[in-house]
Amino acid sequence: MERRKFLYQMVGAGASAMVVGSTWFLHSCRKMSATAKMIWVKEGSFDNPLRLLPRENDVTAIHWTAKQNTTEIVKNTTTQALGFANDILAPVVDIKRNQVLDVTLNNGLSEITNIHWHGLIVPPDMDGHPDNVVTPGGSFNYHFVINQRASTNWFHPHPHMLTGKQVFKGLAGILLVRDEEEEAFGFPSGTFEIPLILQDKRLYSDGGIHYDPQMTDYMNGYFGHYVCVNGSWSPFLQLQTKIYRLRIVNGSNARIYNLTFSNGIIFHLIGSDGGLLASRKDVDQIILAPGERLDVLVDFSKLKKGQEFFLQSDAFHGGEAQGKQSFKIMRFLIEKEVAEAFVVPTVLSNIAPIFVNNETKIRSFEIANDHGGEGGHQGHGMGDLHSMHTIGGKSFEMDRVDEIVKAGDTEIWEFDNSEGSDAHPMHVHGVHFQVLSRVGGRGVVFPHESGWKDTVLCLPGEKVRVAITFPQNKGKFLLHCHNLEHEDTGMMLNYQID
Ligand code: C2O
Ligand code: CU
Ligand code: CU
Repeated sequence: MERRKFLYQMVGAGASAMVVGSTWFLHSCRKMSATAKMIWVKEGSFDNPLRLLPRENDVTAIHWTAKQNTTEIVKNTTTQALGFANDILAPVVDIKRNQVLDVTLNNGLSEITNIHWHGLIVPPDMDGHPDNVVTPGGSFNYHFVINQRASTNWFHPHPHMLTGKQVFKGLAGILLVRDEEEEAFGFPSGTFEIPLILQDKRLYSDGGIHYDPQMTDYMNGYFGHYVCVNGSWSPFLQLQTKIYRLRIVNGSNARIYNLTFSNGIIFHLIGSDGGLLASRKDVDQIILAPGERLDVLVDFSKLKKGQEFFLQSDAFHGGEAQGKQSFKIMRFLIEKEVAEAFVVPTVLSNIAPIFVNNETKIRSFEIANDHGGEGGHQGHGMGDLHSMHTIGGKSFEMDRVDEIVKAGDTEIWEFDNSEGSDAHPMHVHGVHFQVLSRVGGRGVVFPHESGWKDTVLCLPGEKVRVAITFPQNKGKFLLHCHNLEHEDTGMMLNYQID
């Protein structure tokens, strides 16, 4: 799109002022976010059968092509979306610890792409850094050993300034790591273990995915009216009176969900981003931000045939652009009563706390975004998008290393959103961390934050500290906000493990 038209569409009459440079732009950004326009969720009739994601059968020789596929997001409406195989999204990768993951990615798009393995501890050249991309028509082989505990992970493209668009249009998938510790519990499996990726979409009238962010979308994140699960809008799933294991990924660009069941059934939370918790936590509500995952057991065994209920998101205090609405996400219907013998365990794993004391180095990252970008591009139109969002006053530069850490060292990283007015789910590549504290805002560390994490939500007013011991994978990794429009407009830094 030529610049004039772009500016006009973004800010209408204010467009001519934008060319004077980033000071006006950033100032206006703050002002405009104070009047954030909510994208209200539309509920359908919940009669669209949930897409059950297929499983990839041979994880040691995967061949995917990122391309446009025919799919169905809205019931009985054929449309186009991006995917890695022959539908929207990707087949679920189910892999054991110590196995080799081998994925050849062919790029069938007309722009660069790649894959980042969100939650996997991998060498830097396999991590899908935006400086390692596949050109259209090209391919890349991701090949590494899975060396970490059982966990719920996911993957998505990470090309700079295109991540938001490609994920929104359908490029994402779920990757489950298994190990012996987890297998010993005999958790519900097969049809009783259901991977669910939550994503809100904006749709054209033909059901196709519409991604065309305007100024407010870059400021707040790109939200959609249609909340989809596994690429199905307004879905339903039939259940038996059993205990199910749900592997829930928030794969939305920006939307945070406050998950709960309409009939009061509780989540037996057994795991989060980095695998099993030390013990099961029973909770009736979980705030899940983009990038975060949950491993939950849900006991439907006391229900009766014909009963129905919803997974929904309740309103919450999420800053200016989030949480103002309660809405249903998915309908469940009990179709069969059967006996259930599985007993939900209480003690799960051993999580040794990372040792920190008052000598531990603290790196503090200002994420309130009120100071503008020093490292960003000054000036004109689209160029300003690079530096709209910042971490510690800096916007992403591909070749600049912002922080250097030592392999084996433990540090405390602090994400400071005390003065902020927007939500920022902060994600660190290449590590798992432990959440130490949250000061301000919600003021506590939540049950789903008690294990190993790689993404942590910092709501307005919150300062969150995490402890990280850096692994031996030396090289360049990313830290960024997982609001993908924030990420694409500069809210990302490089750090290096030396
Ligand atoms: Cu899922 Cu760099 O992120
Ligand atoms: Cu990641
Ligand atoms: Cu952010």
